[in-house]
Amino acid sequence: METRPSIDDLEIPIVQAPMAGGPSTPELAAAVSRAGALGFVAAGYRTAEALREDLAGVRARTDRPFGVNLFAPSGRPADPDVVRRYRERLAAEARAAGVALGEPRFDDDGYEAKLAVLGEERPAFVSFTFGCPAPDVVAALQRDGCAVWVTVTGPDEARQAVEAGADALVVQGVEAGGHRGAFADREDRTDYGLLALLALVRAQVDVPLVATGGIATGAGVAAVLAAGAAAAALGTAFMRCPEAATSAPHRAALASSRPTGLTRAFTGRLARGIVNRLQAEHGTQAPMAYPEVHHVTAPLRAHGRRSGDGDLVNLWAGEAHELARELPAAELVAELARDAARAAAAAHRRLGG
Ligand SMILES: Cc1cc2nc3c(=O)[nH]c(=O)nc-3n(C[C@H](O)[C@H](O)[C@H](O)COP(=O)(O)O)c2cc1C
Repeated sequence: METRPSIDDLEIPIVQAPMAGGPSTPELAAAVSRAGALGFVAAGYRTAEALREDLAGVRARTDRPFGVNLFAPSGRPADPDVVRRYRERLAAEARAAGVALGEPRFDDDGYEAKLAVLGEERPAFVSFTFGCPAPDVVAALQRDGCAVWVTVTGPDEARQAVEAGADALVVQGVEAGGHRGAFADREDRTDYGLLALLALVRAQVDVPLVATGGIATGAGVAAVLAAGAAAAALGTAFMRCPEAATSAPHRAALASSRPTGLTRAFTGRLARGIVNRLQAEHGTQAPMAYPEVHHVTAPLRAHGRRSGDGDLVNLWAGEAHELARELPAAELVAELARDAARAAAAAHRRLGG
């Protein structure tokens, strides 16, 4: 039987975490994979055709392995009245910006069509977030030669993902920028910090773990490898790379030391972003209604990106964002790898090795 790619085959145990909605580009994924780490294409919010073009874009730049990340379908349509009330609340923002709010709608982000593209294109790695793919979806991708990763935010999700056949788990701590990858957005959730979560998940399952959330330095990479992860995935750290398509107001906020917070204000699903006016003024009233709220605020966010108004943009970022540096991706990967080796050696010495 054909063996699937493994995290252990990576020259450098670093993954560029997928970042939909702008930052992720084929250029970024290719630069990271070319540097010996693993780049990721973010399929979220893209059409199936655009995804196919992204894959061609990576393959035109490198023949190294790379990954593709999909939103797994999860949740149910929200109560339309709850969404309507939040939309009314945002009406003044839209008037002031001179844009019309979007219409709420529920969809699955073109899941089946994107899976069909992956079945044809067969990237080395396919990861899922927001939910656990069905066992037959996992098995079909594996038959096509893809290694399947599932993002988890708690030990129960880890067990479920392994039962569904996942080859590896992306273990996402609460420090992470962007949406929580939880299988279901809920009020009664437990948000685990990365080191605690790695230990809890390792106690439940045997598959390789990719640690993600708040890792910004080589020492952070060394820390999660020492804690049992097979690789470290960094998102925010890559957002200021020239290859990323991060918007100007987002780049400016990343370079600041402004605090982050968890919010549903922009999309109706819990996500970590640098706190701005929209997040501060509307966050507590935002309903659990994804992707309806995402569609409602899309024109407002696009206006903010175009006009440079960072108070209207979802400034997704991990807790350590102020450490992100403006460096070409290949240089960043090389520095992280070198610093990780130094940090691991220093820890080894400290332990009497
Ligand atoms: C702008 C942005 C977009 C993101 N989009 C996705 C995505 O499409 N799919 C996904 O699995 N995770 C997504 N994430 C989460 C990252 O993959 C990763 O878990 C997170 O960046 C790790 O934390 P860090 O940003 O502190 O490194 C996103 C994160 C950011 C900052």
